[in-house]
Amino acid sequence: MSQFINSRRPRRNRKSETIRAMVEETRVTTNDLIFPLFLIDGKNQKTEVNSMPGIFRLSTDLMLKEIEECLRLGIRAFDVFPAVEDQHKDKTATKSYDSNFFYLRALREIKKQFPEACIMTDVAMDPYSSDGHDGLVKDGKILNDETLEILGKMALAQAETGIDILGPSDMMDGRVGYLRNVLDANGFTEVSIMSYTAKYASGFYNPFRDALDSAPKFGDKKTYQMNPANRQEALIEAQLDTEEGADFLMVKPALAYLDIIRLLKDNSSLPIAAYNVSGEYSMVKAAALKGWLDGERVMKETLLSMKRAGADIILTYFAKEFAAIAN
Ligand code: PBG
Repeated sequence: MSQFINSRRPRRNRKSETIRAMVEETRVTTNDLIFPLFLIDGKNQKTEVNSMPGIFRLSTDLMLKEIEECLRLGIRAFDVFPAVEDQHKDKTATKSYDSNFFYLRALREIKKQFPEACIMTDVAMDPYSSDGHDGLVKDGKILNDETLEILGKMALAQAETGIDILGPSDMMDGRVGYLRNVLDANGFTEVSIMSYTAKYASGFYNPFRDALDSAPKFGDKKTYQMNPANRQEALIEAQLDTEEGADFLMVKPALAYLDIIRLLKDNSSLPIAAYNVSGEYSMVKAAALKGWLDGERVMKETLLSMKRAGADIILTYFAKEFAAIAN
């Protein structure tokens, strides 16, 4: 019998747990993860996001506790998003650069209490915009260059709180270069930019928009976010962001875009981040709650797939859960 089969037997390298561990090519560790957090105004406030079981909007005091717990588990990087009440939203996202607004106050407090925590912020108008768009709206159109001015003010206000990384998630043309200039001109040469480089107009963001109540009031985001059908275009975005001074390139969403993660990894020397977005989290959670999938196993497998595809960094709502079982 054996004379008919090749003497190469790949199964030998799978025969024991020890050998399997020895030949393992990809590993996810807590060092790779950034945990997105949702901030709300007030004190002692904690509300679960309906479509994201296990994920809560937290007021500053509770977020500080959450960060402390995560640091103990080995999660050291956080991306903080504000959920803004309707009464504070307007056409020009004024609250986004009001240094007394709860988001900016919270960032200052977080960096004061945990200077060692790496804090990333979100640069885009949608959480503060009465139109629910990432850019300034005029006559039903999203204005590009006028938006940059607002993003510049927002970025400066965030940089002033002492945060580590800015995350422009808006997809306006030229924003990375614009923000880099504004930061440098004001002495913030050390603040990093993780650009949402290939951000697709995706159906996977809905639970996030529930979390922040930030869905667009009209239309969609297809004039600024990328068409899911496109691959080459991701290279154009990557080239521009690199020229404009981005420190990291991000692909978003992650799971349905593993090919794009690999594409950027193979074509760039910059670190590549993947955003394992809200809808990807919700799908796994929902199926696990129904008993249809082993949630823990699928969580690990999806995170692994992103690293295997070439992601150096993963932004994921699973970060804390992963850390709790990784240790
Ligand atoms: C908006 C923004 C979105 C996410 C991060 N920043 C949603 C959108 O573009 O509508 C989505 C994150 C997620 O789904 O987890 N600036």
